[in-house]
Amino acid sequence: MNENSVDHFKNKSKSWDMNSKRVQNAKGIAELIVKNIKLEKSMKIMDFGAGTGLLSFFIAPFVSKITAVDNSPSMLLEFKNKCDEFVCETEVIEKDLSTETLDEKFDGIISSMTIHHLEDILALFKKFYTMLHDGGFIAVADLDTEDGSFHSDGTGVFHHGFDRETLEAIAEEAGFKEIHFKLASTINKPHATFTVFLMTAVK
Ligand SMILES: C[S@@+](CC[C@H](N)C(=O)[O-])C[C@H]1O[C@@H](n2cnc3c(N)ncnc32)[C@H](O)[C@@H]1O
Repeated sequence: MNENSVDHFKNKSKSWDMNSKRVQNAKGIAELIVKNIKLEKSMKIMDFGAGTGLLSFFIAPFVSKITAVDNSPSMLLEFKNKCDEFVCETEVIEKDLSTETLDEKFDGIISSMTIHHLEDILALFKKFYTMLHDGGFIAVADLDTEDGSFHSDGTGVFHHGFDRETLEAIAEEAGFKEIHFKLASTINKPHATFTVFLMTAVK
């Protein structure tokens, strides 16, 4: 983290995993990934915006290694604290993919509830594309279009969910094919219900 950047998750990281809705959401996304993508025990995967590792934890039994990439030191500290519980190799890289790149290639990139924090999705998907081996996959989960009330504090939020057709066009422009969307989970809050999609695509 450089001296000008802000860790938006500093006050949330310690209690992140205590929210059972969050854990259930990550579990639902992971189950759908496992059902729709042929994961192999040899695969090296990047979890983009891995946070404390909720999604990584459920994917770990199916792959060889997960590289957790995130720009929040506090979230990554929680990830590191539970590394022993993951049943695959793990690596943690603190990086902001809106401004930096990672000179490494993966068999797949997974991501949960993160891309709404990045303004330029086309630039991000182009980065994902170059970070994948040929035939590699992305499995990206995030909110369907919402009215902005999902986050009580909207700091660092650039998108109020996504319109699936618009996102599909962006993924296509970045070079991806076989783009599919499925409903991954439903999040009930006292004031409203929100749906989360899983988008899968291949390089
Ligand atoms: C809502 S949390 C989701 C965490 C985890 N994937 C989960 O489902 O519990 C979003 C995560 O994305 C990370 N993030 C946001 N913008 C990022 C960026 N530009 N580069 C890397 N990580 C980013 C945040 O630090 C945070 O850990």
